[in-house]
Amino acid sequence: MVLQLGDTAPDFTADTTVGVLHFHQWIGNAWAMLFSHPKDFTPVCTTELGYMAHLEPEFAKRHCKIIGLSVDSLDAHRQWAQDIAETQGYAPNYPLIADPERRISSLYGMIHPNANDTMTVRSVFVIGPDKKLKLMLTYPASTGRNFDELLRALDSLQLTAAHHVATPVNWRPGEDVIIVPALSDEAAQQRFPGGWKSLKPYLRVVPQPR
Ligand code: BEZ
Repeated sequence: MVLQLGDTAPDFTADTTVGVLHFHQWIGNAWAMLFSHPKDFTPVCTTELGYMAHLEPEFAKRHCKIIGLSVDSLDAHRQWAQDIAETQGYAPNYPLIADPERRISSLYGMIHPNANDTMTVRSVFVIGPDKKLKLMLTYPASTGRNFDELLRALDSLQLTAAHHVATPVNWRPGEDVIIVPALSDEAAQQRFPGGWKSLKPYLRVVPQPR
């Protein structure tokens, strides 16, 4: 099954470094980010997992739980965590799923056999409190992801969910945003009584709502 934005994120039960976890129940009313890494004890993954531990408080501030996955065992995850702490200065402070049978990675299409038929690619799924897929990203094993960019994208997703606005190219938090085309001028008047700048009828710019 090919997953697409707007689909319900497949639910599962998994063994993780913090115990058995039921995915949808674990998400609760929060947002969630599920990310795969190809293999334990590999260099790029080591840097990624350490950096995510460093960023975890930023995700928590945004009510977004984070969870990693690889096809290795819990024992391997636990041993590797020590290397991550030693080399990156941060040990994973979020659950890591052990998926040696590739049950969850198959459910989410994280194995791309023409790239590699044993390891996952670097997938990211951002899931809303409604359990729908809001963002998906796929990088090859050799390219480490930019998790700062994912934090920025999460800010954009949460603004859209709360305020009916979209974010323009290279937007940074605090900068002006765009009123979504689906909102009529009449409806926009209710939401943005301070008005907006209309560069074109379809390009209406407002200060970022707080
Ligand atoms: C890495 O994490 O460094 C890596 C993993 C699989 C293939 C290539 C690089």
